[in-house]
Amino acid sequence: MKPNTDERNHNLTQKRVVVSGAAGFIGSHMCNRLLADGHTVVALDNFLTGSPRNLAHLEGHTRFRFVEQDITLPFAVDGAVDGPLDGVVNMASPASPKDYLEHPIETLDVGFIGTRRMLELAPGEGRPLPDHFHLRVLMATR
Ligand SMILES: NC(=O)c1ccc[n+]([C@@H]2O[C@H](COP(=O)([O-])OP(=O)(O)OC[C@H]3O[C@@H](n4cnc5c(N)ncnc54)[C@H](O)[C@@H]3O)[C@@H](O)[C@H]2O)c1
Repeated sequence: MKPNTDERNHNLTQKRVVVSGAAGFIGSHMCNRLLADGHTVVALDNFLTGSPRNLAHLEGHTRFRFVEQDITLPFAVDGAVDGPLDGVVNMASPASPKDYLEHPIETLDVGFIGTRRMLELAPGEGRPLPDHFHLRVLMATR
């Protein structure tokens, strides 16, 4: 049976996106939205300020994979997705004055080293942006 137009459009626009800070407030909502839009999500978090509870409802989702990872440490997502990454969403960082005071060094490190490591995953030179996809990198303000 031939796929209908909606299914064909869906397949054309389905992308593979890595989301850091996925167990946090904004990151978990980003995961929900990307999955609802038909994308595949690799979620990274070290639970510094986030909680597994924020992702519990996604356990077993066929297009969702969670990797417990401190993004300031070396890591790769090769193998976590079937094919190259299409987009990077970087939401990993403590996000309130209370959290900054509790985790000052971690806040500095994730803002600099973590951001750099996430940028290194992004489509770029030799990894062109696919058609029909306008997201390359999305960063939270800090
Ligand atoms: N919440 C807001 O209203 C708001 C507004 C503007 C900007 N922001 C920015 O958005 C980002 C996320 O905010 P939030 O409210 O979701 O915070 P949050 O604390 O709920 O989420 C941050 C997540 O990042 C994770 N994390 C921290 N360091 C990490 C590391 N080294 N490796 C992997 N994961 C790590 C935490 O465990 C947590 O799950 C922050 O940069 C924040 O400044 C938030």
